[in-house]
Formats: sequence, structure tokens, C-alpha cells
Amino acid sequence: MKILVINGVNLDMLGVREPQIYGGRTLDDINADLSKVAKNLGAEIEFVQSNIEGEIVEFIHKGRQFDGIILNAGAYTHYSIAVRDAISSIDTPCVEVHLSNVHKREEFRHTSVISAVCKGVIAGFGENSYKLALYALLNK
Ligand code: DQA
Repeated sequence: MKILVINGVNLDMLGVREPQIYGGRTLDDINADLSKVAKNLGAEIEFVQSNIEGEIVEFIHKGRQFDGIILNAGAYTHYSIAVRDAISSIDTPCVEVHLSNVHKREEFRHTSVISAVCKGVIAGFGENSYKLALYALLNK
């Protein structure tokens, strides 16, 4: 199984950005751990990140060559119809993930324009959200 992990806007700032909400570890730390888990489960994994909406759309298109996508779109989750349309353009199952429990936070974070076109949603487990998404996609 080949899995593509896409992190969107401002997720390159993990470790620096609001550590009380997102934790103190960097995206590289999180990806390194996830990579070990994937290896133990016999899965191939690739990581990409961008702050640019159109690049995230292109990463999702590239997801056609994978068996599953794990997507933390960051703030684009809440308003990017372009990201939503990209997910619904392809057949690869996509899991929406969030480090924080968006439903416990500001009201504008309670809306996701992408959930309806994703296979499932995992939020609120910090970096474990990505691991749970991986287990789900690998059916473990
Ligand atoms: C986030 C939640 C979003 O509301 C926020 O804009 C982010 C990160 C999360 O992982 O908790 O950038 O997706």
C-alpha cells in the first residue's frame, strides 16, 4: 500500500506555532514517527506540505497514484472549495485529519467543506491523528 500524507497551510510552523494547541513537535518529527509506523506495517509513505492552495490541489491530483491520502488541509479545510473539488475528482480514499479537536474551538472551525468528500475524519488526537488515519487506510 502506498500512502500520501499532505499537510497544508501553516503546518510547516508546527513546533513554533501555538504549542499549547498543536504541541511542541515539528512536522519533520511527526513525519519521522509516522514513517516508522508505516514501515512496521509494510506500507510505503510519502510526505508533502504546502502553504499554497493550488499546490495542495496538485498534490491531491498526484494522490491518484496512491492507495490512500491522509490530508490535514489546515485552515483550507474550512473554506476551500478547490480542495474539496480536487478530492472529489479522484477515486483514492482521503482521510481528513486535524491535530486539534476543531469542534471544541472557534465556531468557524466547526465547518469543514471537505468532510463530505472524505472517507472519514479524525480530529483531536494530536500527532496520533495521523497514525489513526494510517491504521484506518491500511485496515489495521
Ligand atoms: C488544524 C485545525 C485548523 O482549524 C487550523 O486552521 C490548522 C490546523 C489542526 O490540525 O488542528 O491549521 O487543521
